[in-house]
Amino acid sequence: MTIFRFPDGFRWGAATASYQIEGAAREDGRGPSIWDTFSHTPGNVANGDNGDVACDSYHRYAEDIKLLKELGIKHYRFSVAWPRIFPAGRGEVNAKGLAYYHDFADKLLEAGIEPYCTLYHWDLPQALQDEGGWNNRETIDAFVEYATLMYKEFGGKIKHWMTFNEPWCVSFLSNFLGAHAPGYRDLQLAVNVAHHLHVAHGRAVKAFRESGAPGRIGYAPNTEWNEPYSSRQEDIDACRRATGWFVEWFFDPVFKGEYPDFLVETFAKRGVTVPIEPGDMETIRQPIDFVGINYYTGRVGRYKEGEFLFDCEAIDVGYEKTDIGWNIYPEGFYKVLTYIRDRYGDIPLLITENGACYNDEPGADGRVRDDRRIAYLRKHLIALQRAIHSGVNVVGYLTWSLMDNFEWAEGYGMRFGLIHVDYDTLARTKKNSYYWYKHVAETNWLDI
Ligand code: NOJ
Repeated sequence: MTIFRFPDGFRWGAATASYQIEGAAREDGRGPSIWDTFSHTPGNVANGDNGDVACDSYHRYAEDIKLLKELGIKHYRFSVAWPRIFPAGRGEVNAKGLAYYHDFADKLLEAGIEPYCTLYHWDLPQALQDEGGWNNRETIDAFVEYATLMYKEFGGKIKHWMTFNEPWCVSFLSNFLGAHAPGYRDLQLAVNVAHHLHVAHGRAVKAFRESGAPGRIGYAPNTEWNEPYSSRQEDIDACRRATGWFVEWFFDPVFKGEYPDFLVETFAKRGVTVPIEPGDMETIRQPIDFVGINYYTGRVGRYKEGEFLFDCEAIDVGYEKTDIGWNIYPEGFYKVLTYIRDRYGDIPLLITENGACYNDEPGADGRVRDDRRIAYLRKHLIALQRAIHSGVNVVGYLTWSLMDNFEWAEGYGMRFGLIHVDYDTLARTKKNSYYWYKHVAETNWLDI
C-alpha cells in the first residue's frame, strides 16, 4: 500500500452555503433573496424545489456542528445570508440575523473548528435586484456596507473571509446562460455583472484592511480545465479561451489589474464591452491573502468555428461521469492548479470546493454505500498531492459538501454530501465517504 502524507498543518474541512442548507426562509426577519424568487417561479428548478426548508440547518446547526466535530475536521466553510443581515439589502440591520451567526460561530469555535465565511454565495437580497442587482453599481456600495458590518461584528471571531463564491456563476451562468437566479440571457449584462463583482471584491478587501480585523481574505472562483483534443495549435488556442473564461477572466483583474485581451476581443466581436470606470482596475487589484479554488470537472475541447463563444467544441472522449453528468477529470485539477501558480505566482491556494454528485440512498441496513464518491475524492486528492509536490502552495482542502443540500437549479435530486439528508424527516445519515474522509483528515494521510 502506498501512503501519501500531506504537509504538516494541512487544513482539512468541508463546505456548505446558506441558501442550500439553512431553510427558515421567512423566519427571524430574513428578507427575500433572488433565489427565493427564482426557485418559486415555475420551470426554473427541477421538481419545483426551493430552499424554504432545505436541510433546516437554521434550526439544526448544533446537530450539524456535532457532525462536523465527529468528522474530525478543523475547518468549516459556510456562507452568510446577506438578507438575514440586511433584509432590504442595505440600511436597517436585522439584529436576529447577526445573533444567529454569532451563536453559530461561537459554537464552531467551542467545537475547535475554525470558521471560513463566504460573504456572497448567491443569495442577493431581492430588494437590490429590484434596482438592477449586480448590473447597478449601487449594489457595490450595498455589498461594502454589508461586508464592513460583518468585519466589525465578527472581526476576531471569524478570521478567514471570502468575498465571492464562483463569480463566473454569478455573472455568466446567471445572466448569460440563464440557468441560475436572476435567470437572464444577455452577454453584455453578464460582463457588466462580472466587472461589478470585481470592483465589489476589491472594495470589500480594502474595507477589510481598513477595519483592522485580524485574519485573511480572499475569494473563491470556480475553475474548470479544457484539454486540447490534439496538439494542433487551433485546438490548444480554443481550449485556452474556454479555460480562460473561468480562470483569466476572474484572476487577471485581481492579480494584474487588467482583463485578458484574448477574451476582451472575443466579447468585442459580439459588440460587448467591459464598463470600466476610472480607478476601477486599481481598486480590483488589491493584494489578497489566499485564493479559494473550486474544481469539479474538465473536458476535452476541439476547435470548431462558430461553436459557442470560443470556437471550441467539447468532445466526449468517454470519461466516466458523476450522477450530475460531469466528467471525472482529476488531471484537470492538477493542471489548473499548476497553471494558476505559473501565471499568478506563489499565492496560497485553499481548495474551497471539490466533490462529487452521487445519489446513493441508504440500504436496508441504513448504510449509504457511496463508494463512487470515495473513488472520486481519492483521485482528486492524488492529483492534489502531485500539485503540492510540484511546488504549488496548497494550504488546505474543504470538500463539497458536508451534507446533501439544495443543488440550485437541480433541486434536491442531486446529492453532493458526505452525510445523507432525508428531506421528509430531515434525518442525517453518515455515508461511507464520511468515515473515509474522517480517516484522511485525522491522519493527514491518503492510503491508496
Ligand atoms: C459550486 C457551488 O459553489 C455550490 O454551491 C454547488 O452546490 C457546487 N458547486 C456543486 O454544484
